[in-house]
Amino acid sequence: MRGKDAQAECISWIFDIMERNMKSMYEQSDWGWDPIAKQNELTEPEAWYLVASSNNKFVGFSHFRFDIDHREEVLYCYEIQLESTVRRKGLGHFIMSALESIASEYKMHKVVLTALKHNPSAMQFFCSIG
Ligand SMILES: CC(C)(COP(=O)(O)OP(=O)(O)OC[C@H]1O[C@@H](n2cnc3c(N)ncnc32)[C@H](O)[C@@H]1OP(=O)(O)O)[C@@H](O)C(=O)NCCC(=O)NCCS
Repeated sequence: MRGKDAQAECISWIFDIMERNMKSMYEQSDWGWDPIAKQNELTEPEAWYLVASSNNKFVGFSHFRFDIDHREEVLYCYEIQLESTVRRKGLGHFIMSALESIASEYKMHKVVLTALKHNPSAMQFFCSIG
């Protein structure tokens, strides 16, 4: 879905999980944690979301955009965030595969992302999926 079409309940959960999963890691980085800037980024018109739910509860999402990176058309994965209860079951891998399929469908050259080096589980995850 486009960010602007997301239900208020979904956007509210997205802000909440972002803070629970990432606030402390952002605070340890040069970026710091700026909730207003993050909320603005999450609701910009360019934002697209892929949201996973189970038993009517949101359990994971990716925020992605179609963008130009180093003069190449790319699908830029801004976020991939899962609830702790659904991790290590292959959902993250499935979501990244879905992003690759969307990128391919829309003739994007790559899927790219930025990860914090001091997020070891994310680093291992992204390395494991190549
Ligand atoms: C990072 C994240 C998206 C991974 O999703 P996931 O569904 O747990 O990962 P998968 O089950 O698809 O794992 C695929 C492989 O990645 C590696 N991996 C995933 N999490 C790992 C961890 N915590 N430690 C070591 N390796 C890990 C493993 O090789 C795993 O394969 P295996 O389970 O067969 O050993 C999820 O842990 C998450 O949302 N974390 C919190 C938010 C976050 O840090 N997001 C990334 C921001 S850039």
